[in-house]
Amino acid sequence: MIDLRSDTVTRPTDGMRRAMLKADVGDDVFGEDPTINRLEEYVADLLGKEAAIYCPSGTMTNQIGVFVNTHRGDEVLLHEGAHIFNYEGGAPALLSGVQVRTLPGEGGAISPDTVREAIKPENVHFPRQRLLCLENTHNRAGGRVFPLEDFAAASEAAREYGLRVHLDGARLFNAQAATGIPAREWCAHADTVSVCSSKGLGAPVGSLLAGGEETIREARRARKAFGGGMRQAGIIAAGSLYAFENHVERLAEDHKRARKLADGLRDAGYSVSEPETNIVLVESEDPAGLIEALGRAGVLATLGTTPAAGRSGTVRLCTHLDVDDSAVETAVEAASSVIAQALGG
Ligand SMILES: Cc1ncc(COP(=O)(O)O)c(C=O)c1O
Repeated sequence: MIDLRSDTVTRPTDGMRRAMLKADVGDDVFGEDPTINRLEEYVADLLGKEAAIYCPSGTMTNQIGVFVNTHRGDEVLLHEGAHIFNYEGGAPALLSGVQVRTLPGEGGAISPDTVREAIKPENVHFPRQRLLCLENTHNRAGGRVFPLEDFAAASEAAREYGLRVHLDGARLFNAQAATGIPAREWCAHADTVSVCSSKGLGAPVGSLLAGGEETIREARRARKAFGGGMRQAGIIAAGSLYAFENHVERLAEDHKRARKLADGLRDAGYSVSEPETNIVLVESEDPAGLIEALGRAGVLATLGTTPAAGRSGTVRLCTHLDVDDSAVETAVEAASSVIAQALGG
């Protein structure tokens, strides 16, 4: 089976496993895990922030980001395709007591005008608008990069009205690899940033929330309250540290393979978007049927966008650390055989 469902399916490399095996550990709730302390400092520095906190998942770092930037009853602005809105179990309402307002935008980006149009005047009838969440790269938009200038402009529009900005950067280093722009340049336009070590970077678990010293102190309280205070977690954090130190540069290889995959699928007759990073979206009138047929041919894929009733949707294929050139070739051959069979060949 070639597993292209997500870049979260990777298994730790031998080097990563060795780093995990010899990790120094301590009780992280007491702040005594030397590996976690090193990882938090390393990532804060990488992102140009004062501090960072290690958490079990990107959902937790996003939701702590929402929590520390808002109060109950506030409104959070985000893109209609945002992971925080679509795939985190309604957590902004559940954990922070906030309501979300979704905004449209091409490729997962939100324009400054769209932000300004969503702003409400001060009035007792209206919720306080406290936070804008942006996502880069954008998962549901097929790994699209939020161009730095546009990102800065959207952030500036929100800040004009006193909103804070959270960046869901689960795949921020894919944006860096695709553009050559250091990740920290996007972070300069956000108050809090979530990054994941368990996506394209290939660690088995772990995400970090970075921000100002005071904000991350609050995040530490929230992490404990949300049940994310871990003990000798340096054993897993060592995998994350290894990932940040060794797997950022190589993301460009995943992007190259995604383009190769897209070209092969297009040649085979599929309608495919041009990938900017490591996610390929294939348009289909029957995405669930296509996923099933690909699975029978030995390729695992997943739904990109869930189609509305009677409408076409997309199938998502993701390249990652465990996908080499020959896996891409085999996947293209398998997908070609699916089309040939559908045409009765
Ligand atoms: C853009 C984005 N943000 C956040 C997450 C959540 O990460 P986790 O699965 O670690 O909770 C994901 C997961 O795929 C994601 O794609």
